[in-house]
Formats: sequence, structure tokens, C-alpha cells
Amino acid sequence: MNDPLEWIKEELKQIHDKQLFRLLTELETGQSPEVTIDGKRFILLGSNSYLGLSVDPKVIESARLALEKYGTGSGGSRLVSGSFDLHRELEEKIAEFKNTEAAILFSSGYLANIGTISALVGSDDIIYSDELNHASIIDGARLSRSTVRIYKHLDLNHLQELLEADKDRKCRKLIVTDTVFSMDGDLVPLPELVELSERYGCILMIDEAHATGVLGKRGSGATEHFGVEDRVPVVMGTLSKAIGSLGGYIAGSKELIDFIRNRVRSYIFDTSLPPASIAASITAIDIIGNEPQRREHLWNMVKQFKTGIENTGLQILPSHSAIIPVLIGDAEPALNFAKMLRENGVFTPAVRPPSVPHGMCRIRVTIMAKHTGEHVDTALKVFRTAYEPLK
Ligand SMILES: Cc1ncc(COP(=O)(O)O)c(C=O)c1O
Repeated sequence: MNDPLEWIKEELKQIHDKQLFRLLTELETGQSPEVTIDGKRFILLGSNSYLGLSVDPKVIESARLALEKYGTGSGGSRLVSGSFDLHRELEEKIAEFKNTEAAILFSSGYLANIGTISALVGSDDIIYSDELNHASIIDGARLSRSTVRIYKHLDLNHLQELLEADKDRKCRKLIVTDTVFSMDGDLVPLPELVELSERYGCILMIDEAHATGVLGKRGSGATEHFGVEDRVPVVMGTLSKAIGSLGGYIAGSKELIDFIRNRVRSYIFDTSLPPASIAASITAIDIIGNEPQRREHLWNMVKQFKTGIENTGLQILPSHSAIIPVLIGDAEPALNFAKMLRENGVFTPAVRPPSVPHGMCRIRVTIMAKHTGEHVDTALKVFRTAYEPLK
């Protein structure tokens, strides 16, 4: 009998031939600036736990207490199995943190994006999406069956041309963008985008996954950084990056949140976050607000790394966050570069398509507030060594 999955062999061969096969690396320690792999210590330069909160003792203690009180799982969707006081407490905390009326939790940022986008717009509507938006935004747009207009990365002139061409179309229009782009680390000019969305009567939705905890005086994100907290109607974010836990959220008006609770399928038909993760996020958000020194140190380390890399001659893409993309080019040299880093005590994988466009493979460096100047200096030396064969 024919194997109906025979075709997978050919597909896998093609992935291998293009140097795009993905492998996992097992860490024996948590997301700290140094990790252990196969019993050896490495400097970690690939974590999104930008503030080191996933291993913070206060965060761990909150998670432990919640685990003891409520157990491991939430038992189901909140609408069916009941909601904990912790869910509400975290939603209130997020709303306060993002300076919005209300907020709602999802089990991941991915689910927040796909569910919310596909509920806000439908097959008669139009989505305007930056070409480098995260996969969860792309998938949400596909799920919505809306017409999707992709504008060139951060090119608001191009976006305006598209908006102008559609200005007589009577339908819902959604502009959606990452604020800090996940693979490039650059930042959307949010006030200008807000202007455009208001001028053309569009819903504006932003994804604050990599801005939360990093940008803004209180670490609330790009809306705070740019002072437009009251002008972005749909603010999405994750609890899985700087907040160091798990989950996603939408923050906005009370009406928007009531709508999501009643209409969004990835909220209604999904088991809610476990208590320990929720408690961890509550404490982490408190720390983000109360300990600005973590952010200050993070920015100092980012500056030190960027200056050091620029001196090596390696090319970095223009970033405004804790994500520093060191551009290599094709997949094979990028893999070799990552291998050299690994052989010399630095762990961060090469990022290849489909995460980034072909020919734009990179080492996506992420800095953490727990890195010291010594970690950064050591890492820079290793980058210089790895660069030698490419010169
Ligand atoms: C910009 C962006 N949006 C959304 C997500 C999805 O978030 P989560 O990992 O919480 O599902 C990610 C994470 O990879 C991201 O980088």
C-alpha cells in the first residue's frame, strides 16, 4: 500500500538541501545570561526574556504560591470552567500598565492576534499590513478572509497611497503592525501611523510583543514611549517576552474587551492560562514598573554591544530595541557563523527563512538586563573570531 505521507520525505529533503532544516538545542538551565548546554556554559544572546524576569526569585515565588493554592491547570475555557480571581487581577493590571480601560487575556500572543484580527474584520473588509509583520498577524489576516494590502516595511507613504486608493470603499479598514519588529528590532513611527489611521477612519491595531517592558518610562511599550496611549484603539501584547511568563493580551476600551469575550474564537474555545503563569505575570509587571534600573542597564548593554559590533565591520540592521540583527546573508554562512559562536561559548541561533526573507539570514542578538559589561565584551570577541572566515 502507498504511504500517503510519502511526500514528506521529498519536502524534508528540500528543506535540508536549502540549509533550512531546524534543530532544537536543549538548555539545562533557565533563561539567564549564561546557560548550560551539554554540561558547558554559554553566554545566551537569543532570549526574549529581556529583563531576566523568567528566573527572578520574586516572580518564581508568586508562581509557586499560586501553584500551591490553585494547582497546575485552569481546567478549561474561562466561560465554561470558571475564571480565577488571578485572571481578573492580571487583566486589571495590564489595563493599568497600558493605560487603557480594560484588557483581556489569551493563552498566547499568537492566539490573541489570530483571534482578534479575524473577529474585527471579515471578507468584505480591508487589512493594511506591514510586510515584516509577525506570522501571527499574517495568519490572523488570512483567517479573516479580508483583502490584505501589504505595505513596504515602515513606509507610511506607501501605506497612504494604498489608503487613498481605497478611500471611497465603504467597509471596515484595519491597519495592523508590530511596534518593535521581531526579527529587525526597528520601531514603527507610531504618531504618524496614528495620524494616518485617524485621517482615513481605520481601526489601528498594534503588536507590542517586543516593546513591552523595554520601551517607555514605565516600560509600558511604544504607546507610552510616543505618548499616544489614548489614540490606539487595539493594543496587543505578550506575557511571554520581557514579562517572562506565558500568554497574550488585548488592551483597549471596555466595549472592545466585551466584544472579544463574546466573539473571539481563540478566546472562547481555548483553555485559559494556568494560575502559576498568571501570578508570575502579575509580579513581573509590578517589577517592570518599580525597577526602571533594569531598563536603564539593558539600554547601556545594548549600546555597548552595538558600538562593539560596528567596530568589527559586521553589518547590523538599524534597531531601536534590545533586538540587534547582525546581517550575514545566505543560510549556509549564517549557519557556519552561529556554529563558530557556539564553539566559542556564545549561544544564539542563525535566523533563516521563513522567519526572514531569503538572502537576509542573520544572527538575531537579544540583550538581557542581566548581561554584564563583561558578558558583552566576551561575546564581542567571539563575534570577531566568527567573522574572520567571512572577510
Ligand atoms: C511580534 C510578535 N507577535 C506575536 C508573537 C506571538 O506571541 P506568543 O509567543 O506569546 O504566542 C510573537 C512571538 O513570537 C512576536 O514576536
